[in-house]
Amino acid sequence: MTKQFVRKTICFAALTFCSSLSAIAEDGAAAWLRYAPLTDSKLYATLPTRIVSMDNSPTGSAAAEELRRGLTSMLGRNFVVSNAGTGAIIVLSSNALLPRETYRIRRGMDGLHIEGSSAAAELYGVFHFLERVASQKPIVNETQSPAAQIRWSDEWDNMDGTVERGYAGPSIFFENGHVKQDLTRAGEYARLLASVGINGCNVNNVNANLQTLSEQNLRDFARVAEVFRPWGVKLALSVDLTSPQVVGGLDTFDPLDPKVAAWWQSKVDEIYKLIPDFAGFTVKADSEGRKGPSQYGRMPADAANVLARALKPHGGVVLYRGFVYNNHLDWNDKKADRARAGVDNFVKNDGTFESNVVIQIKEGPIDFQAREAVSPLFSALKKSNVAIELQTAQEYTGQQRHMVFLPSMWKWVLDTDLRANGKTTPVKQIVTGHTFPNADGSPRLSGFVSVTNVGSEANWLHHPMALANLYGFGKLAWNPDTPLSQITDTWTRMTWGNDPLVVGTITSMLGKSWGVYEGYTGPNGMGTLTNILGYHFGPGIESAERNGWGQWFRGEKDGIGMDRTSHGTGYAQQYAPELAAKYENPAATGDDLLLFFHHVPYDYKLHNSKTLVQSIYDTHYASALAAAEYVPQWSALKDKVDADRYAQTLKLFQFQAGHALVWRDAINNWFQRISGIADALGRVGHDKGRVEAEASQLTGFEIIDVNPWETASGGKAVNCHVATGCTLTMTAQQAAGHYNIAVNYHDMWNGVSKYELLVDGKSIATFAADDKLPPAQFDPNPDGQTATRFTAYNVALHPGAVITLHAVPDMRPELQNVMPSAEANSQLRARDYREFAPVDYIAIGPAGLITPQ
Ligand code: GCU
Repeated sequence: MTKQFVRKTICFAALTFCSSLSAIAEDGAAAWLRYAPLTDSKLYATLPTRIVSMDNSPTGSAAAEELRRGLTSMLGRNFVVSNAGTGAIIVLSSNALLPRETYRIRRGMDGLHIEGSSAAAELYGVFHFLERVASQKPIVNETQSPAAQIRWSDEWDNMDGTVERGYAGPSIFFENGHVKQDLTRAGEYARLLASVGINGCNVNNVNANLQTLSEQNLRDFARVAEVFRPWGVKLALSVDLTSPQVVGGLDTFDPLDPKVAAWWQSKVDEIYKLIPDFAGFTVKADSEGRKGPSQYGRMPADAANVLARALKPHGGVVLYRGFVYNNHLDWNDKKADRARAGVDNFVKNDGTFESNVVIQIKEGPIDFQAREAVSPLFSALKKSNVAIELQTAQEYTGQQRHMVFLPSMWKWVLDTDLRANGKTTPVKQIVTGHTFPNADGSPRLSGFVSVTNVGSEANWLHHPMALANLYGFGKLAWNPDTPLSQITDTWTRMTWGNDPLVVGTITSMLGKSWGVYEGYTGPNGMGTLTNILGYHFGPGIESAERNGWGQWFRGEKDGIGMDRTSHGTGYAQQYAPELAAKYENPAATGDDLLLFFHHVPYDYKLHNSKTLVQSIYDTHYASALAAAEYVPQWSALKDKVDADRYAQTLKLFQFQAGHALVWRDAINNWFQRISGIADALGRVGHDKGRVEAEASQLTGFEIIDVNPWETASGGKAVNCHVATGCTLTMTAQQAAGHYNIAVNYHDMWNGVSKYELLVDGKSIATFAADDKLPPAQFDPNPDGQTATRFTAYNVALHPGAVITLHAVPDMRPELQNVMPSAEANSQLRARDYREFAPVDYIAIGPAGLITPQ
């Protein structure tokens, strides 16, 4: 059997599996490549059914098969692939005259041509063509090239099968310390990536396993590269700089030691023997406990270059991360500032990096917050290659339990004009290599990296709407000028169908979702205000303060915000002069980033002419309501999308509606307490229709303090330690009518407490605390991460009706010492992990689809 034949067999086996997947129930595995039959296919009635593929390479064959499969499925006609033919045909071919990675679609005398400068480009052309059909757009002659060479997805997968900051189940690449035997999902993932033009995938955590480069592991990684290859996706690896010592047995990893350079060279040669199209390395060094060149008094460039020299003869690259900072900063030092670290650490190396080193820079100088300033490192490095790191994994933006369409944020970043050299220089121009070109005028090696962190759950990212982020990343990396409306429109049509109500509803929901999330979480550039010391999911406001991590916002009695002007940390001066001047001045900075740059009093007047604190209250009320409105908006699509994905999405929107209220109340109450300024509209702390659990009539329940206080209504909740259950009773004061009744409770990772809601002794609903909150990490406390809500809709009440909640804790002894096996949780000490049916409050509001506000 020839090698090529073996490859083709693997490729076709994978494809057959994919088609059978999309034919069965809609579990989301097909993502946007559903190829659902079109109800109106007039536009494509004359499309010939014979596909002639001139390219028999694995990628050429994958392209032809994809086209056959997609068109057959969408148009209901039988398309066939052959190697030759005349008459009415679709021709797939390579055209060496086209620029790199370019495809061209054109109608010729002899049929329709999809040409690519390479087989991978041909594949991009096929996916684009299929996208036009799926979204019912006319086929037009067009030629397209990507804006930048590097378009990678990074996965933070650990070899034990967990995924750092992954919210969709275990790794698709690893289990039990090894690469998985069955890499079917890895191949399907590469297909998904290729469909939006992503050409590289780094499969292991940037916090790399120290044995990543062992001989055995490399042989296993070659199997991953093999399933990626038909899709034109190249494998990359994260490596730890201590590898020469840990794997190679040397007595040093000093990048300037010749032994170390020789080791890297021979290791890289070994990799290319196994993986001839290996893309390169990603490096996290001198950051968050990772060792690095500083141990030997060396610079980032010394480390990056030793790897780069080894990779260069093979065409590989080093993506050296700009995320280098000291996580033991001195809180008492008013000049200390984590945001400064990128520029402080890298600018002195500018111009000294090898030509195949790319500095991979997170979009903001802190860490993927709901909003932060754009990193000044993009404009400060004038003689180095740069790539932008964006995070599709919603680490700080709701962890794929909240809908947040991140391309809105990314576009804002990419369009930000950094005024480098006093000229218009939006970030997108810098990261596509045009602002500071090579000496010969050609664009610098540059690009886009998405930290994606897909998992083994059928739909890859848990929230069906989160797939729009991966899709949007690919589109912006291909062309950062792609309009957001085009991204949401096409993704929605491909993922959910072409029905106008479906398209209109979903595109509008996605379009506003970043603003809504930002609106009920961290305001005015303060950062997300989540618990930064672990889970990054729910509110945990002061976790950011008084520690060495430097995500401070300096909330004091006199005011709030980090002074990053020249009176403070001086960070603003890291930008080009025009921008520095803007950020030195609070009024010019703009309200979105005000507290990122300035320490201002709580009654500071914003551009919306409200005081800061009143604006925070109002925004949080409006945004939590906007999140709650997703439920009725989505419900209107009930019969217009498939039942499974409808139900899954509805449940997530119901969760988001409840958790948005937890966020709103935590932040508003915290601001009211610290500022001493009451909400002018009297809402904060006086919620209509709410009865605290601790103020109800309790049987068996014990009152507990919740920490931090702002994450429970009134700072308290109740716990039940009675195995047979506890009850909480209250009397409705409402006029006779129908109402929604919401129960706010805490749902821990372990344990399944059971609840029953009764009105006048009659059971109206039961529910179980069977979720795992926060999504990927174990939190044993009732707090902002575990706070959630159940709503019973349209319940008949009369004044004096007795509302009872009966709760049965989960006290199974076998749960006592159970912990999730995530590496990330290893620091947790064994404790009592039973779930004591915690309840925070009950709220009664108007009937309808919106949970009581
Ligand atoms: C964040 C994230 C870490 C990750 C780090 C990184 O801090 O919480 O899990 O390791 O970013 O990007 O390296």
